[in-house]
Amino acid sequence: MKDLYAVIGDPIAHSMSPIMHNHLFQFYGVDAHYHAFKVETENLKAAINGFKAIGIAGFNVTVPHKMKIIPFLDEIDPLAREIGAVNTVVNRDGKFIGYNTDGSGYLKGLSSVYDIQKDLSVLLIGAGGAARGIYFTMAQSGVEHIDITNRTVEKAEQLIEECPYAVQSNAVPLKEAEADLSQYDLVIQTTSIGMSPYMDRSPISLQNLCSNAFVSDIIYNPLTTKILHQAKEKGAKIQNGLDMFVFQGALAFEKWTGIFPDTDRMKNTVLTQLGGIQC
Ligand code: ATR
Repeated sequence: MKDLYAVIGDPIAHSMSPIMHNHLFQFYGVDAHYHAFKVETENLKAAINGFKAIGIAGFNVTVPHKMKIIPFLDEIDPLAREIGAVNTVVNRDGKFIGYNTDGSGYLKGLSSVYDIQKDLSVLLIGAGGAARGIYFTMAQSGVEHIDITNRTVEKAEQLIEECPYAVQSNAVPLKEAEADLSQYDLVIQTTSIGMSPYMDRSPISLQNLCSNAFVSDIIYNPLTTKILHQAKEKGAKIQNGLDMFVFQGALAFEKWTGIFPDTDRMKNTVLTQLGGIQC
């Protein structure tokens, strides 16, 4: 009998995860199937109980359940607990263990195209859930200087206060970050600005960006957001969110099967589905 894997979220219809994971199961000869389930928040507990009852092998968790799922799991990996969010669950002998592969997926994706030195000067734009995963994981990995800018600067301050890892950080108002942009080697965009309905907007002016800076956006639809277009015009190197998506999926696949999959193959599967050309 095939093992069942899944992703739960709401909305979920446009998730690329089923296509990506089913392609991998087929390619690596794993007798399993991955299915997307729309689960409304009020049904989350019932859905987890149902997954337990049918012995699901593992599942991904996406918006809006990444935090809410924690009380319903048997064990939480320490980094996922610090981040306060779970995106991958493994069924180990009937126990549901929660992990967060978003932050580590981001770092792995970034390191596939960029040399992450500990003494880099990093600017993180945004202070929501995605920023939190990336910030904590980067700080844990030893990156020494990560400033955070956000529309609501108090949220950046709070994130810095809550980080359990040693890192030098300042919460910087957007205008100040724009003025001082030339001091940053790496700019990471984590807000929803750049995707629909904000496709024609950039969260920050790149006027003072250095041409040798690297700008990374976690959005992958569209593949090239406005901020990435502007960064490219400035001569900076850029990366869209496809690598993060692919690598978080690769790390989940590895936790479930023990196989770290071919990420180029995964990327091509998603790109074909998106009908786009990589930036
Ligand atoms: P996610 O889990 O995707 O990070 P989130 O936790 O809701 O989502 O965080 C969204 C981020 O995008 C926040 O940094 C948010 O800024 P605020 O903290 O000021 O709300 C940012 N964001 C969302 N809409 C925005 C907008 N219209 N302009 C600027 N920033 C926006």
